[in-house]
Parts: sequence; structure tokens; C-alpha cells
Amino acid sequence: MAVVEKELLCKDFLTKDKQLLIDGKWVNAESGKTFETRNPATDQVIGKVAEGSKADVDKAVKAARKAVEEGPWRKMSTAQRAKLMYKLADLVEKNADQLAQLETLDNGKPINESKHIDVPQTIETFRYYGGWATKIEGETINANPNMFTYTLREPVGVVGQIIPWNFPMLMAAWKLGPALACGNAIVLKPAEQTPLTALRIGELVLEAGFPEGVVNIITGFGADSAGSAISNHMDIDKVAFTGEDKTGREIVKASVGNLKRVSLELGGKAPNIVFADADIDAAVKGAITGIFFNQGQVCCAGSRLFLEKSIHDEFMSKLLARVAKMQQGPGMDEKTQIGPQVSKDQQDRILSYIDIAKKEGASVACGGDAPAGDLAKGYFVKPTIFTGVNNDMRIAQEEVFGPVLAVIPFNSVEEVAEQANKITYGLSGAVWTSDVKKAHKLASQIKAGTVWVNCVNMLDPAIPFGGYKMSGYGRELGKHSIDLYTNIKSVWVNLG
Ligand code: NAI
Ligand code: MG
Repeated sequence: MAVVEKELLCKDFLTKDKQLLIDGKWVNAESGKTFETRNPATDQVIGKVAEGSKADVDKAVKAARKAVEEGPWRKMSTAQRAKLMYKLADLVEKNADQLAQLETLDNGKPINESKHIDVPQTIETFRYYGGWATKIEGETINANPNMFTYTLREPVGVVGQIIPWNFPMLMAAWKLGPALACGNAIVLKPAEQTPLTALRIGELVLEAGFPEGVVNIITGFGADSAGSAISNHMDIDKVAFTGEDKTGREIVKASVGNLKRVSLELGGKAPNIVFADADIDAAVKGAITGIFFNQGQVCCAGSRLFLEKSIHDEFMSKLLARVAKMQQGPGMDEKTQIGPQVSKDQQDRILSYIDIAKKEGASVACGGDAPAGDLAKGYFVKPTIFTGVNNDMRIAQEEVFGPVLAVIPFNSVEEVAEQANKITYGLSGAVWTSDVKKAHKLASQIKAGTVWVNCVNMLDPAIPFGGYKMSGYGRELGKHSIDLYTNIKSVWVNLG
């Protein structure tokens, strides 16, 4: 680790007090409380962060309301708004390596992924929505010759955004990007496990020159704390949430007070379906990316691998050979392909699901516990694959959110389509086949917001993403986010 220490670009940021961003200023929590954030590879504390609560959310909402109703933000041209967003994207780019290190230290993910996925996608998301700022338009509708009627797209107003820890900075960008493009003011709450990159983004928001109160960042906890203060707030017009379905329900309940608009991006248990006519080597690689990318902490992880019976054994031997070569270690090590889970809680939760699967009668093909030795001090779980799973087992039905794959054999297209949909979730699915007809047929049959054919985990700021069923509602990314963050007003002018 000595080499890494010497090159640590985020040292200054780590040693500073991490405060709340309210009304353009960094301030302590009203309570004066702080909480610790840890390096998942070592369990070491890497920073103390202000613990926001209701009083701080109230202050942030006041600042956001002022920014969106009276501040320079409301009066700015959309071109000026776009310019600020491009500036923010440039600043993220300028600080790319530092942000990548910060993300890896706080979340645990491999530095190669922070550098080549999280950071570039964050930049692209800000640029993509920077482009939208100048392209949001209303319509004129000639319904009645005596009336001139047109629509305006106005910002929703004050937006609360509650985000998870699996892609801390990228989730902040998915939320901030469209909300800013549409001219809203924001109260963002990062996950308590991973507050650091959002705070650094907050510094860059100020450096870019966004007016005070446009972006407010309240670090802290969820239930009975900053998170629920946001979802219950009577002066927040909309809440956007990504996280567990159970928490999503709490957010919907909390929204009824002022009937605020809600969009939810919740969990998944995605089917990854491989037919005998697929390019098997490509599908093996896809299965690995599908479940082990980001330590399996991905809402669209391909956690149910359906294998056509005739290729089951060949596929499994290739898959296991590749998994055996995967390098597990601290995220800061350049060679690491699979890092630690984000927290002790998540590690415990995953290990308990592994026990459940064993008790249900599934067979451990690899992994099945936490590594010993040097890695034992971090929150690691070995890449784990269960065979002999049937789709009704808990290991096939519940979101584990870890590097745990359930392999389920199948015989026919009809059977696999039915099994794939026999789940409460519907975020994504993947199909591997060389038969175009089969591919399109399944793409229409799978009840999910995204279907990948001969690929997995493809995401782009221009392509909509979101869930069917209990994976949530509302579509993020693409032009559909503009619907989430604008109100449509119809204006009637009597010409008679
Ligand atoms: P969570 O959904 O409870 O937390 C996500 C965010 O919501 C955090 O910022 C948290 O502080 C906030 N929050 C929690 N309770 C809240 C409440 N009552 N009101 C308002 N905000 C609240 O997820 P958690 O507990 O960290 O992880 C549990 C499981 O959730 C994971 O094992 C995984 O299965 C799932 N999850 C799914 C994610 C996804 O991307 N779909 C992301 C994170 C977790
Ligand atoms: Mg929770």
C-alpha cells in the first residue's frame, strides 16, 4: 500500500472537516453531531462527517425555495444554466483521479472501475443534461380557433434526492443532472456509508459558480433522520429515491402529507438467460460482469443465471475456471477485480443469504464464505456461485446485493420466459442467443424496464432506465428524466 499512499490525491480533502452544504456555505449540523465513514477494505475510519437531521433539512429547504423562487437561478437564461453544468462536468474531469480515489476509499470498489466507469459516466451525465437545459420546450395546440393555447414546462421547484451507496457519485449525477437542467433547486442526501464524493461534488458545484441554495447537500442517516425529514417535508415538491424497495414504500407513505411527486428506482433480481445457440465464451464473460461487477451491489445485477440444460455443464466449467482467476483485494490495488462489500452490515446480510441458500439445498460451486488472511479485516465475501437452484428458493427470489449467483437450468423458451417473470421485481434482464427471433420474442416477454441482448449492464445517459413491478416507477436518464423534473402548465388566451 506504500505506493498508493504516496500518490493519494485526496489527502487534503480527507483531512478537512466534512460539513453540510446549505445556501452556498459549508456549515456544521445544528446538533453539532458527526458520524464516521470507513474504508471497507480495512475497516479504518477515513473521515468524520456532519450528521444532518430535520433542523438542517429545514434550513436547506428554505434556501432551495429562495433559490428557485427569487434567486438568480430563476432569472438565468437556459444557456447560462447549461454553461454552469458544462463547467461542473469540466471540473469533475479536472479532478477525475482524485474523485476516483475518494470513491474507492469510501465504497471499496476497484480503482479501475472508479476511474473508467464511475468518473467518466458522471462527467457524461452532467454534459448530457447540460445539453438538455437549452432544449426543454412547450407546445402550441390549436384545439379551438378562438383560443390561443400553449404549454410551458416549468421546474417542479424544490426537489429532495435520496441516493444509495453502490454508485455514490454516479447516482448523485443521475439525480442532479436532470434536476439542474430543468431549473430546480435541490436537497441531496447521500448514503451514510459513502458521503465523501457527493461532498467533493458540492465543492465543485460552488467552484463552477452555481448560485447559492441551488444545490444543498445534507449528509446523514435515513429513517427518523435526514432522509425521512426530506420525504416528509411539506415544502419539498418532489422526491427522487434509489435504494431498497422496503425504503421506497416508506418514502411513498411519507409523501402523502403534501402529495409530493415521487420517483423510485428500487431493487432487482434480474434473469440472465443463456441459450445453447449463444456465443458461450461471450456469455460466460457476461455472466461474470452481470453478477460480480461492483461486488454484486448493482440493482440490475444478473443474479439469476438461467442456463439451457444442454450447455449447463460446459458453461459451468468455463465459468468456474474464469472466476477462480479473479483477483480479490483492496480497491486501491490496481490489480483488484473484486473488492470488499460496502459495509459490515452488507457483508453480514450476504453471508446470511449464503447460509439460507445452503439450507435450502443449493450446492456451492465456488466461494460460499468470507476470505481469511489479510482480507479478513475488510468486508469481503468470496465470489459465490450456487448450482441446483430452483426459482422458488429465497436465493432466487430475494435481492442479495452481493457477489452471489443462483444458477437455474431450463428446457424451453416458454419455460424460461415464465420463470424469468416469476419474481416481484422487473428492473432488467439479459438474453444470450444467436437467434434473432428468440431474442426479440424474449425482449418483449420479459417484464422489465431494460433488456440486454448479447450484452449486460450497458448504460448511457441518453437511454432511459427504470423499473416494472416492484422495481419502482418513473424513468431516469434520457429525455424521460425531463418529465420527472418539470411541471406542464397549459395557458389559454381568449382571442374572441
Ligand atoms: P436503503 O434503501 O435503506 O438506503 C438508501 C438511501 O435511503 C440512503 O441514503 C438511506 O440513508 C436512505 N434511507 C433509508 N431509510 C430511509 C427512510 N426511512 N426515509 C428516507 N430515506 C431513507 O438501503 P440500505 O439499507 O443501505 O441497503 C439495504 C438493501 O437495499 C441492500 O442490501 C440492497 O438489497 C438494497 N439496495 C438497493 C439499491 C439499488 O440501487 N436499487 C441501492 C442500495 C441498496
Ligand atoms: Mg435501509
